[in-house]
Amino acid sequence: MNKDVKAERPMFVLLVAGLGFFLLSFVAMGVFPWLSVDGIKPPEEMENPYKDADGKPTAVARGRETYIHEGCWHCHSQFVRPVANEEFRYGPRSQAWEAMFDVPQLYGTRRIGPDLSREAGRRSDDWHLAHLWNPRATVPGSVMPKYPWLFEQQGETWVPTEQATDLVAYLQYLGIYYKPDVRAQVWPSRVTVSGSPQPTALQQGRGEELFQHYCSGCHGETGNGVGMAKDFLKPSASNLTARYLPREEVFRILFMGSDGSAMPSFAELTEKDLWAISLYVHGLGKSQRAPALEMAAKAESRERGARLYKDKCQMCHGEGGLVPPSMENLKPSPKHFRDRLYEPAYLAGVIRNGRPGTAMVGFTAFSDPEVQDLVAYISSLFDVTRYKEE
Ligand code: HEC
Ligand code: HEC
Ligand code: HEC
Repeated sequence: MNKDVKAERPMFVLLVAGLGFFLLSFVAMGVFPWLSVDGIKPPEEMENPYKDADGKPTAVARGRETYIHEGCWHCHSQFVRPVANEEFRYGPRSQAWEAMFDVPQLYGTRRIGPDLSREAGRRSDDWHLAHLWNPRATVPGSVMPKYPWLFEQQGETWVPTEQATDLVAYLQYLGIYYKPDVRAQVWPSRVTVSGSPQPTALQQGRGEELFQHYCSGCHGETGNGVGMAKDFLKPSASNLTARYLPREEVFRILFMGSDGSAMPSFAELTEKDLWAISLYVHGLGKSQRAPALEMAAKAESRERGARLYKDKCQMCHGEGGLVPPSMENLKPSPKHFRDRLYEPAYLAGVIRNGRPGTAMVGFTAFSDPEVQDLVAYISSLFDVTRYKEE
């Protein structure tokens, strides 16, 4: 027997195996992905988001720098995987071309927070600012750290620096080519609410608990609209103690959110929980029903108000307390006066000062009696027979 041949054999096997595995991995990790990506083209309108026409970095590029610098990628991935219910949760799965201008890519592997690659259009800019300043302001139970150094304190209020607004520009860019799909997913376009279930004492307690958990950051612990996020929200979070909202109407708003404002949709909560919160919110403004209906009962004032309304308000707020469909494109859109009552003093204030951050401007030319006439008329648009107080 030849000793050398025997020694050569394992060497030969090792060599073939080594080469084989090298080839296999080359095919699996080089050729296969290349083949599967080749031919998938980015949309035609895709351009480098990080450089403007003069080659200077854009706000999106500067925001990306901050994202890397602050280590957001420690907790957030940017990759919707093609498995399980990822698409259901985040939107269409990630495509290779989406990262073609990204050096380095920020796919990430760790998800302490949600994936961010479908963030464009999911939230409003003011939501993001309040959230970056302190995540507990918009999501009271959040464990995300706050980034106050991206903001400046001017007197009593906090204002975002350019770094913060650039970071928001970046977040609003993530997944921009899928924005319509994601919006269709997270902003329901319609919900029909037919009557509310009989409230129970248990629901009342549960409603308050849920309100403190999900809503207090923006609406304040008492629901007066002055929460932790107040410096950033435009329009401001509604004062829920200064309006009478039927439970069905609260349910509808919770389901739909208010597109164009920071008010998110809570459609992911169970129907039972949504009714519990609706009951609680209804309770916050319950006492406003009587004084508002008292205003509505002033016949002469109401008639004068009707004329002013027709002249100045009807084109946006519609006839008979129903907003015309054409105005539902306003973001945020006006709400039906048929379904709500306001504290008279609050209503007068809105007529005078408008709602900053919306198409509702203040009407300063009205005299005080004219404002009262409008208050009487608007209060009379509420549908008392539809919404009885039990
Ligand atoms: C310690 C981990 C951690 C870090 C670091 C972190 N986040 Fe988060 N983030 C979270 C968690 C947890 C949530 C979910 C709760 C919430 O919405 O606050 C979240 C939520 C978010 C959301 C909301 C997504 C949505 O639409 O619901 C955005 C946007 C976001 N983070 C951006 C950032 C940015 C930008 C940074 C860096 C400046 C950052 N995060 C750093 C943990 C983190
Ligand atoms: C991130 C901030 C934020 C959170 C969280 C939030 N809201 Fe709002 N909410 C707003 C803003 C801003 C508006 C004003 C929207 C507008 O004017 O169109 C609003 C409006 C509303 C309205 C509409 C009032 C009306 O007359 O039309 C209701 C009701 C409401 N919120 C209830 C809730 C409840 C209940 C929760 C918790 C489950 C909640 N909100 C969570 C910011 C928030
Ligand atoms: C250009 C369209 C437009 C006109 C004209 C207009 N509004 Fe509005 N109004 C809006 C929009 C949009 C909103 C929703 C703002 C928001 O989301 O809080 C609104 C909201 C309101 C609210 C509710 C505010 C709140 O906090 O919920 C009242 C009350 C109101 N308008 C009264 C009037 C009266 C009275 C007039 C006429 C004198 C008038 N509006 C004219 C667009 C308009």
